Amino acid sequence: MEKCILDRHIFKKYKKQFGKQKYVCMAPFTSLYFKPDGTILPCCALGSNLSFGSYKNSTINEILESDYRKKLQTKIASLDFSNGCIACLKSMNSGNFMSAINTQYRHYDSGDYPEVLEFELSYFCNLDCVMCYLHDTEKVNKIYNSKFVEEITPYLKHAVAVKFLGGEPFLIPIYRQIWEVINENNWDTQVHIQTNGTVFNDEIANIISNLNAYIGISIDGISKESYEKIRRGGNFEKVIENIESFNRIMTEQKKSLSFSFTPMNINWKDIPEFIDFVNSYSGLLYFNNLTTPYKYSFRHCDVIQLKNIINYIDNYDFKFSTAKYYNQNLRTLKSFLNGLQYIINEYVEFERLYAAVPLSEWLKIVKTKLSKESDFNALHDLLGEQYMSKMIMPHIQNKFNNLTLDVINEIINKMVVNKQLNYLLDFLEIDFEKSESFKVKNCQ
Ligand SMILES: C[S@@+](CC[C@H](N)C(=O)[O-])C[C@H]1O[C@@H](n2cnc3c(N)ncnc32)[C@H](O)[C@@H]1O
Ligand code: SF4
Ligand code: SF4
Repeated sequence: MEKCILDRHIFKKYKKQFGKQKYVCMAPFTSLYFKPDGTILPCCALGSNLSFGSYKNSTINEILESDYRKKLQTKIASLDFSNGCIACLKSMNSGNFMSAINTQYRHYDSGDYPEVLEFELSYFCNLDCVMCYLHDTEKVNKIYNSKFVEEITPYLKHAVAVKFLGGEPFLIPIYRQIWEVINENNWDTQVHIQTNGTVFNDEIANIISNLNAYIGISIDGISKESYEKIRRGGNFEKVIENIESFNRIMTEQKKSLSFSFTPMNINWKDIPEFIDFVNSYSGLLYFNNLTTPYKYSFRHCDVIQLKNIINYIDNYDFKFSTAKYYNQNLRTLKSFLNGLQYIINEYVEFERLYAAVPLSEWLKIVKTKLSKESDFNALHDLLGEQYMSKMIMPHIQNKFNNLTLDVINEIINKMVVNKQLNYLLDFLEIDFEKSESFKVKNCQ
């Protein structure tokens, strides 16, 4: 499918920025990502149905040999993102390379054993962040036990990097067992731990001091007010105190902390100060790319708001620093701003194409297109770009005025994932007769 193929020029530009790499994404060749329900994927692949199989009924070796894995490898090798990689294709097309998930795998190579193992073995957590996609998920790990630790051990030995996510990794017991195996064997494997930074004590200090640990801390606000409004249940002063402690250990090991921030339409004003904060720790900045919940996404903003955000950040006087990652962090910021500009361009292009078309006509166009689509990943892409935008959602909401945009978004997503095309078309059967044509608000 043509539109799922990455343009070679974009891959060339990407390689110019990051250096040579065999494939546009190394994950299908070198990574296994374990989910709490037993699903094993190449990467976190948020919101997609990308799966190599399940640990519930396959061994890790069978997963590595699976047809699905081989098929994905073949597709990615030919720059084809149609197998569930649309989110990455979008980030690549938007020029927001730093937030494209495939970029995280660029340092790893293919071989007999996976170089990257990523564990999301439980969603148990002590916070309730407003944007977290783990709401309403089963929090207790019922699948992974000592037998799993035994089976994964040879893979731990050969891995270059093992990553621990969650939930909150420092509150997940099976992770302690895995860290013990790595520690007892004195393996030099990189142990990446993505934490909310709320839990720190002598035992944790001891664990990370004995491992080749890399600590990433997530905070999404740089004042007490904004932090605690988003990271519900967290205490800003306590997290800052813990960051100091984590940083002391990382500094002893001559490493830097990394900091993750999820830019949203409720916290973008904190971004410049956050970057100054990260640089003050000589830390590495990472921006998560939020697509859901829709109400916090930048697609919920109109053109004027998006332009204001870009202007505000562009005009901020960043504290100059000689910190190790200063330039890289500014590049990450630039990449994020490219992503916002891409949304603006999309709106403008959308208006150019459809402004003169009455909404009812436009719906017919889309429906014709949808009924021809057999590839649900492409369908997901189409819905993602067009329905879930500022322009479309309010019209859908008019019809279902007792539903919030997030609920509508969730319903559409479920139908796409469960391949319920007919229900979806019924759902989208919206009376647009009295509506106006599309108009991108305030667009110059
Ligand atoms: C799910 S958390 C798990 C690890 C740990 N609890 C933490 O908060 O860092 C992993 C990362 O996902 C980010 N995240 C949460 N909700 C998100 C969303 N809706 N979109 C993108 N990233 C999100 C978090 O900020 C965090 O950096
Ligand atoms: S392209 Fe993106 S979604 Fe696909 S395997 Fe790579 S990281 Fe995962
Ligand atoms: S701390 Fe992490 S896992 Fe917990 S609610 Fe927040 S983002 Fe989700």
